[in-house]
Amino acid sequence: MNPRPRILSGIKPTGRPHLGNYLGMMRPAIAWQDQGEAFYFLADYHALTTVRDPAKLRQNSRDMALDFLACGLDPAKAVLFRQSAVPEHCELTWILGTLTPIPMLENAHAYKAALDRGITPELGLFAYPVLMAVDILIYLSDIVPVGRDQQQHVEMTRDLAAKFNRTYGEVFKLPKSSILADVETIPGLDGQKMSKSYDNTIELFQEEKALKKKVMGMITDSTPVEAPKDPDTSAIYGLYKLFASETDAAQMAMDFRAGGVGYGDFKKRLFGTLWEYFAPMREKRAALEADTGYVDKVLADGAARAREIALATTRRVREAVGL
Ligand code: TRP
Repeated sequence: MNPRPRILSGIKPTGRPHLGNYLGMMRPAIAWQDQGEAFYFLADYHALTTVRDPAKLRQNSRDMALDFLACGLDPAKAVLFRQSAVPEHCELTWILGTLTPIPMLENAHAYKAALDRGITPELGLFAYPVLMAVDILIYLSDIVPVGRDQQQHVEMTRDLAAKFNRTYGEVFKLPKSSILADVETIPGLDGQKMSKSYDNTIELFQEEKALKKKVMGMITDSTPVEAPKDPDTSAIYGLYKLFASETDAAQMAMDFRAGGVGYGDFKKRLFGTLWEYFAPMREKRAALEADTGYVDKVLADGAARAREIALATTRRVREAVGL
């Protein structure tokens, strides 16, 4: 592979990011910015499939950009932009859509999940993987850091790119996905996978009181204080070990097994660790937010850089297909 691979990933601005987003996508994406040419975008076209409030969508996108920058995304290294600032994504979605088999889309997890929930799916939701494929292909990306849940989409991207290339000649590069987070599933407040759809998330940037309330309200079993407890089935320990030092994590595991420490105490430790872990990012976020115009400038510069590449690919695609 090229010594400076192109890395691309997107995040849907549907709300404030939570610990699962952070560990599964944001932190690994930020780590990748030193490994190659990184492109990260706010998938606001995708967000339209669920966010129907324009002011909210605009606010979410801006907030998400600030969150990313606060967590360490460096605009000198990585290109950060809004998907909708590059309307060519939509044009290529149409073109790629003419090669997309419906059964492939019928097999997509997100679409099947919507059907299972009894929702009447819209075309946008159905076509979601095609737009995502274009997001990746339009920048001729090498590596796509995504969580496990997005792997299927990257596979579809490869299939569609190969089909396009077979039909019209080599235009697209086939990307590799990478499941970066070596973190398994990130437990939510109730012990299930942390996910917005389960309403069990802990957001990165929340008020101290709100964070404390969430952590202290975590569901536990009724093992008495004195009794030994199993750290490995506990969401408290599961989260703690992702953010605490190794020594502190080992200590908590020991205290679980020894008995004599109640869940309330473990929750306090978890709260303290989370609060501290994100302290520097909270400060940075406040500073960036106070710097009027900064985020808009970063996003505008990012969009200009991204669009240049997207336009070049779009020209080649139009040419290849006969438009
Ligand atoms: N579908 C992704 C998610 O929900 C977001 C996304 C959109 C994306 N386009 C992408 C991720 C392209 C990687 C590459 O998390």
